[in-house]
Amino acid sequence: MKLADNKATLSFSNGSPSVEMPVYQGSVGPDVVDIRKLYAQTGMFTYDPGFLSTAACQSAITYIDGDKGELLYRGYPIEQLATNCDFMETCHLLLYGNLPNAAGKAEFTKRVSNHTMVNEQMQFFLRGFRRDAHPMAIMTGLVGALSAFYHDSTDINNPEHRDISAIRLIAKMPTLVAMAYKYSVGQPFMYPKNHLSYAGNFMHMMFATPCAEYVVNPVIERALDRIFVLHADHEQNASTSTVRLCGSSGTNPFAAIAAGVACLWGPAHGGANEACLNMLEDIQKMGGISKVGQFMEQVKDKNSGVKLMGFGHRVYKNYDPRAKLMQETCKEVLAALGLENDPLFKLAMALEKIALEDEYFVSRKLYPNVDFYSGIVQRAIGIPVGLFTAVFALARTVGWIAQLNEMIGDPEYKIGRPRQLFTGSVRRDVLPIAKR
Ligand code: SDX
Repeated sequence: MKLADNKATLSFSNGSPSVEMPVYQGSVGPDVVDIRKLYAQTGMFTYDPGFLSTAACQSAITYIDGDKGELLYRGYPIEQLATNCDFMETCHLLLYGNLPNAAGKAEFTKRVSNHTMVNEQMQFFLRGFRRDAHPMAIMTGLVGALSAFYHDSTDINNPEHRDISAIRLIAKMPTLVAMAYKYSVGQPFMYPKNHLSYAGNFMHMMFATPCAEYVVNPVIERALDRIFVLHADHEQNASTSTVRLCGSSGTNPFAAIAAGVACLWGPAHGGANEACLNMLEDIQKMGGISKVGQFMEQVKDKNSGVKLMGFGHRVYKNYDPRAKLMQETCKEVLAALGLENDPLFKLAMALEKIALEDEYFVSRKLYPNVDFYSGIVQRAIGIPVGLFTAVFALARTVGWIAQLNEMIGDPEYKIGRPRQLFTGSVRRDVLPIAKR
């Protein structure tokens, strides 16, 4: 970042001395007012719950222009990456800042493939869960447990440890997600097959059984790979910020990523794809497209607490570019599977059309986000609703670890420790219980 030819002056109506603060600018996007000395100079904090106007860090990984609906990974538009690259190239880009050439891609892919197995002890963690445990409960536990097997590489301040942990986490997430699924259906775990692609291997571990040969459907393989690319990173979203804050204490990468998994689970965040599919199924049960108007009235009634899941975004005040690509992927997969008339897809398209013409949504700049169509395509592939957010976590792991490594690699980083505006009781003395 560089100093802008601009300064911010904070003045107070009560005559307190005004304070000057430097303004910094990045390569693109909003400038920032550097308030780091504000408390020392004024004895005051800024107040920004939800971080609507707060840049918590500087980063060179992902840039979002919410007004334009633009998403860049290391400067490359998501539309170009989703159509010209695959997830392994995208992982290399996010981690190291550049797209690999053919040799670099082959080397990186081989490194990842060589770490796809998990320690045999990991399977015993699953036995502690009920078979109907939510996959995100299982994933939160399994990812945190990984740290117990790599004592040789959990020093987050060691660049080599950070790199091998990144490879291990990217490589093992599909194995763990597939194990969570197999455990839920009472089928044996399938070991990874390293000759398959990243997405193909995930499909094999999910849908193959020891009883028959499993053939990867290339259309589904490509669709899954694109879903991974679209979910790989997204600037300082809630789960990435969680990973950064957790990692800032110096804890090991597996623990920090486990914190990201836990945060992503929420329906306002990564859990929205599951919530959106359930919402579509509920409307379908109510009567489908004929009941959309009634449902929309509920959504617009503040007291109902009903939201149009998969719509709206803190940053995008235009169409989420990932939603457009996800819709295209949806159409491709449904056509490949002969499901062009999938009622939920038709319902989603009808909901989107109505919402984009409704003043409530238009005035609030609410558009479909990445979660609106992702559930429909995952369901068509055969992934159960409860596993959607675990698939999101699988894909987002590379973004989380890239952001964590960027933070730790920044000489300026400190442990994150926000302050507060205290509104509770001022000092008072404890009375003996007889006098309370
Ligand atoms: C992800 O941050 C990221 O980058 C996240 C993510 C990523 O890749 O990491 O993009 C992934 O989490 C996508 C978002 C998935 N969540 C959902 O689809 C859940 C439904 N969406 C909402 O919960 C909401 O839109 C949020 C949480 C996504 C954003 O919330 P904000 O930015 O805090 O906005 P807000 O709640 O203040 O909403 C502004 C207004 C409010 O109405 P008013 O008080 O102004 O009258 O819009 C309304 C909200 O009630 N609103 C909605 C709505 N989303 C916002 N009303 C109905 N349905 C919705 N979905």
